[in-house]
Amino acid sequence: MSERTQVGIVGAGPAGLLLAHLLHRAGIESIVIETRTRAEVEGTIRAGVLEQGTVDMLTEAGVGERLHREAFFHRGVYLRFNGETHHIDMQELTGGKRVTVYAQHEVIKDLVKARLDAKGDVRFGVADVKLEGIDSSRPAIVFTQDGEAKRIECDFIAGCDGSHSMSRHSIPPGVLTRHDRVYPFGWFGISVEAPPSSDELIYASHDRGFALVSTRAPMLQRLYLQCDPNDKVGNWSDDRIWTELRKRLETKDGWVLEEGPIVQKIIVGMRSVVVEPMRHGRLFLAGDAAHVVPPTGAKGLNLAAADVRVLARAFDAFYRRGDEAGLEGYSATCLRRVWKGQRFSWWMTTMLHRADTDTSFDRKRQLAELDYLTTSRAAMTSLAENYVGLPFDDR
Ligand code: FAD
Ligand code: DHB
Repeated sequence: MSERTQVGIVGAGPAGLLLAHLLHRAGIESIVIETRTRAEVEGTIRAGVLEQGTVDMLTEAGVGERLHREAFFHRGVYLRFNGETHHIDMQELTGGKRVTVYAQHEVIKDLVKARLDAKGDVRFGVADVKLEGIDSSRPAIVFTQDGEAKRIECDFIAGCDGSHSMSRHSIPPGVLTRHDRVYPFGWFGISVEAPPSSDELIYASHDRGFALVSTRAPMLQRLYLQCDPNDKVGNWSDDRIWTELRKRLETKDGWVLEEGPIVQKIIVGMRSVVVEPMRHGRLFLAGDAAHVVPPTGAKGLNLAAADVRVLARAFDAFYRRGDEAGLEGYSATCLRRVWKGQRFSWWMTTMLHRADTDTSFDRKRQLAELDYLTTSRAAMTSLAENYVGLPFDDR
């Protein structure tokens, strides 16, 4: 027997859960289907920085309460190169927008709680998920739950199932155009039990490669260093990690990196991907299912949130007034922001990382760019307005 819902959502990441929540607030029913367990979804450590617009969206949607209590609100970030540290005061440069540090899995926990409190339907731990009839007026999600075959008929399906997206692969060949680029480096990320080394994030460019100092909680810090994307976590002893971080973060004024037990290690590859269009028939792709950015600049989660904001408004206009303009324009509206996010992430990545093929010319050019960026108010403003988040097009 089939079940029915208005919007079937594949994936309980930030995109899927936020979409379900926004739809609920607009009086639109949804069912979220997720292959991982709730504990896995809530325990995956990923992004950390929220744009001002994302914070505002979560706040307006009634899921910002814990965020406002526990997040760190920073005026800006530091750029470090040639042993010197330069502050970019983004709050001043953008007329009040701040950098919010609040982990992705905390956003996820808040959204899962909001869905369950509202008796929302989120099915964790399902298997064999497939889409049917996305070209028809009655698409369906089929899957197995506790070994039992299930089918949910939907008016629309939102493919929010991340970068490997089964939903995207359900679109017939030849429909989508894929634009991508793979970078010859990755990030080695660690979580450390220690007090913060800095009051704001530090993005460091060094001859030995990029390093980033971020935070999660008063006694939990998050640090990253550029590495070979094919390297193995096991090749990096704690000692090797600290030695490398100390070198890349060293300053002329004797800044000290706070060290402590390393409680998590991960290597993340880096690439840029966009598929166009973000819609086929009754299937709408959102978040990493449609686009992936390299992490420098912290745009991934924020772009996912921006997509579902557009999608929720489009569904609202459709169900309230039968107005299909928002659904028709969904892909083009999102892609304008996505491409600006791609440009910014690519620019931050290539400015701060070192590639094996780089020559001394490339290094000198990077340093000149950083020198310009930290001395020109125009350049700083451009960095700041992209980092804290460009305005939404449809405000
Ligand atoms: P996801 O968070 O990937 O969620 C998709 C969900 O769909 C998952 O829960 C998955 O289990 C589920 N799913 C997958 N297939 C199916 C299926 N067939 N059926 C049902 N469910 C399915 N961004 C930053 O800005 N800064 C960072 O530091 C950063 N670090 C990252 C580290 C890692 C290891 C990764 C992978 C990404 C990182 N990102 C970072 C990117 C950021 O986390 C993503 O942009 C963000 O998670 C996108 O949200 P999403 O909801 O689109 O996709
Ligand atoms: C973090 C991740 C990013 O990609 C970034 O640019 C800044 C901070 C983080 O995980 O804290």
